[in-house]
Amino acid sequence: MAKKELKLHPVVAPSEIVVVSAYDEDGRADACTLAFYMVSGLKPLCVTIAVNAEKKRKTLKSMRRQNAFTLAFPGTDQIRETDYLGVESGYNTDKLKNLGWTVSRAKTVHAPLINEMRLSLECEIIHTVTIGSHIHITGEVRRILADESILNENDNIVLEKLKPIIYDEEQLRYLGIGTKQGDAYKTGAALKKEMAGLKEGSL
Ligand SMILES: Cc1cc2nc3c(=O)[nH]c(=O)nc-3n(C[C@H](O)[C@H](O)[C@H](O)COP(=O)(O)O)c2cc1C
Repeated sequence: MAKKELKLHPVVAPSEIVVVSAYDEDGRADACTLAFYMVSGLKPLCVTIAVNAEKKRKTLKSMRRQNAFTLAFPGTDQIRETDYLGVESGYNTDKLKNLGWTVSRAKTVHAPLINEMRLSLECEIIHTVTIGSHIHITGEVRRILADESILNENDNIVLEKLKPIIYDEEQLRYLGIGTKQGDAYKTGAALKKEMAGLKEGSL
């Protein structure tokens, strides 16, 4: 098929939407919506977010001041609130209060946990690096807090219950997760075995 060269733009589709939160200097909880998020390490368990430092982001200032943040995964039933957290600034108003959302203190870091979130990570900032317009903030995950309602009997997070919001940067819209299409690690392993068998057979 013919290929077309596209202009440089963030190819993030699909990406999971997260809400990060931190206390400001007056102890008020700030929160904003981010699409630039990834798991960036296992030992120690780390996540990295990229926040635009050229634009005024109050949550960025708060996170850096406290050296900590919480990162939560909103559900598709919280799209309106999540989008609001991404289009309004804590410099103008108390966003969480406006939403009627409440916070509790995180146990392991000085950061607010949004009670309405079904899955949250408590993170201590261990590394920051500036890449052009964005600051990449790596947080070591100190604690994971999940609503029992999103877990199965083995305490696995069930995505169908969490209902994460998938962001489509191309068409500026939010999607939900789709249906299962295969088994991770097993499908490729079966193909690998099949290929090894073919090789042996050809000897
Ligand atoms: C869908 C969506 C994704 C966003 N992703 C990012 C992101 O990855 N990085 C970033 O710096 N800002 C991102 N934003 C913008 C911030 O959430 C927005 O500027 C917010 O108002 C900042 O609030 P604050 O000043 O209270 O921190 C995103 C906004 C939306 C709606």
